[in-house]
Amino acid sequence: MSLSNFAERLIQWYTENKRDLPWRHTRDPYKIWLSEVILQQTRVKQGMPYYLKFVATYPTVKTLAEASEQEVLRLWQGLGYYSRARNMHAAAKYITEELEEQFPDNYKDLLALKGVGKYTAAAIASFSFNETVAVVDGNVYRVLARIFGVEKDIASSEGQRYFAKLAGSLVSSKRPDLYNQAIMEFGAIHCKPANPDCMFCTFAVECEAQQKGLQAKLPVKLKK
Ligand code: ADE
Repeated sequence: MSLSNFAERLIQWYTENKRDLPWRHTRDPYKIWLSEVILQQTRVKQGMPYYLKFVATYPTVKTLAEASEQEVLRLWQGLGYYSRARNMHAAAKYITEELEEQFPDNYKDLLALKGVGKYTAAAIASFSFNETVAVVDGNVYRVLARIFGVEKDIASSEGQRYFAKLAGSLVSSKRPDLYNQAIMEFGAIHCKPANPDCMFCTFAVECEAQQKGLQAKLPVKLKK
């Protein structure tokens, strides 16, 4: 399926259906980074109180850098995957001590931070700096696989390359920030893994998965 206005339609859906989440009210790359690291392996509902706690306790990258690792880990308690907190603290120190508190302001430089991979770098670059770079996460694989009928394996490097290219071709160059929030939100609350709301979908007519009844089969993820 080709959809020249895919981004605009997705953004339209987003403006009408989005959840009001605290990190959507800021462009501060430090706060966006905090939220994305917390949400990497954690659901919004569980992550929210931690985000609020971290922002209140460490309002700037410098205050986080000046805390001891022990204090940071204590505040992280209950979230699991403690390497996230350790990497975050190390990156805060690096930014404060080596970059004179200047948060990296583009995709490439963000990738150099400990614990920041392609997804998180794209999220910060687009949400904070409006850089035209597409986020690709589990939600994005699912939405694109279903709407465009992509049956490539998301566990294979060929599949990942294919989806990265497709995602990059769809991202809005005018509002990459809204587009990226929109596709993740669409995957999280509408095009869900189980029981997606296909009856009331804005892409109901075009969606390849819905036409072929393949919602439950897509995205394809083969065991390695
Ligand atoms: N999960 C990861 N990033 C998110 C974001 N910015 N909003 C909602 N859920 C998310």
